[in-house]
Amino acid sequence: MNQEPNQKSQPDSASNRYDMKIDDIFESKPESVDPETCITAKYYLESPMGLRNAGIAIATEESIGTWTEISTTNDWVRSKLPAKLYKMEGGADSGFVYIAYPLDLFDLETSGIANILSMVAGNLFGLSAIKNVRLMDVGFPKAVVDMYSGPRIGIDGVRSLIGTTKDRRPHLGTIVKPKVGLDPDQTANVCYEAAIGGVDFIKDDETLVNQRFCPLESRVSKVMAALDRAESETGREVAFAVNVTASPANMVRMAETAIDNGCNCLMLDIVILGFPTVEWFLKENDFKVPIHMHRAMHAAFTRNPRHGIAMLPLAKIARMLGGDQLHTGSGAGKMGGDEAKMMELQEIIDFLRGSWFGKKPTFPVASGGIHPGFVPANFSVFGKDFVINAGGGIHGHPLGTRAGATAMRQAIDACMNGIALSEYSKDHSELAIAIQHWGERRLSED
Ligand code: 6PG
Ligand code: MG
Repeated sequence: MNQEPNQKSQPDSASNRYDMKIDDIFESKPESVDPETCITAKYYLESPMGLRNAGIAIATEESIGTWTEISTTNDWVRSKLPAKLYKMEGGADSGFVYIAYPLDLFDLETSGIANILSMVAGNLFGLSAIKNVRLMDVGFPKAVVDMYSGPRIGIDGVRSLIGTTKDRRPHLGTIVKPKVGLDPDQTANVCYEAAIGGVDFIKDDETLVNQRFCPLESRVSKVMAALDRAESETGREVAFAVNVTASPANMVRMAETAIDNGCNCLMLDIVILGFPTVEWFLKENDFKVPIHMHRAMHAAFTRNPRHGIAMLPLAKIARMLGGDQLHTGSGAGKMGGDEAKMMELQEIIDFLRGSWFGKKPTFPVASGGIHPGFVPANFSVFGKDFVINAGGGIHGHPLGTRAGATAMRQAIDACMNGIALSEYSKDHSELAIAIQHWGERRLSED
């Protein structure tokens, strides 16, 4: 109280400032950065210390420095290991900075993705000299990407399992609803109805694993028997993603049980598990079924456009570690977003399906609050190569799950044929009822 403004009595005042001498070992010209020998990171920054100083503060903190000069360093450390600020875009106090982290900094062999994230997404978020900082993108060199298998099955593999290699239409998925509560027989019945109605893919909701009222072994065996029965009637195979998100030993045990009982897809909540667990699970085990990656909890760090971590780095890690399918957010639905979010979504979709050091592509999955009226808006964002999931938008159809799945398939068929839903619903009654029930949303309305 009543202190002079400059009085230095606060014990943390120095560490709040990052007042070390700016050291040019933490800077470099863009042309001196070799993207094959470093991991690059793009950050959005807001800091009263200015873009350059804040960028250097990150490079310093996340490589070999700290808030003040130290006497314990040496020439080898200073010549080989500094991260370097090599590019800036924007105004004086806010904009983008690009930092290159030399590969020599990392323990790639034993710590892998954990060690990478401890630097490119580590302490920097808490530096009090920086008001906001968001990791927007990460550039992994071939040497790092090559350490991982990437998707083992990929979009084409999933399509050949389902039988859509030729027409390449979007896959229709559903999430069994209610999220939890049904027993194995009830779950299998919902899955059978959805399969007969036209879905290609069914998944557990992210909160269902092995609850007493729906044990995983019994659920999988009953659902797979129901899907076999549906296949004998329709000739179409449906994938069922079983959620095995748990502690490591239980994950392996449950995945083996699921596969022994005929399951043809495994689901992991990758953010909740933590990337090193996902890395270990997929490196140490070769389950030979598609890996469906859910991202529950991601919005804790992706949602704020000025601070945290954007979805694109997460998508890169997911594909690198082996995700055959990844939730990306939707073009329209309960988790849709503004224009900036749509631009981010487009980047993620392009990345997952684009070429990347020979890795197979990952199927983007749109999910959350989707019903038939949202299909065209999502189709115009994703094109044909995506999975569109509906839970409530199928099981909430006035005529039930089977009609709900059919209505979604009709909406997809309408898009594939370039026909408006209002037109297509004239002679497709399930779709007509769905549109009457939930309405139709166009992309421009979201
Ligand atoms: C999922 C997701 C998700 C979503 C739903 C979908 O499990 O796929 O968590 O994106 O919120 O569970 O359910 P609705 O279609 O009913 O929103
Ligand atoms: Mg869910």
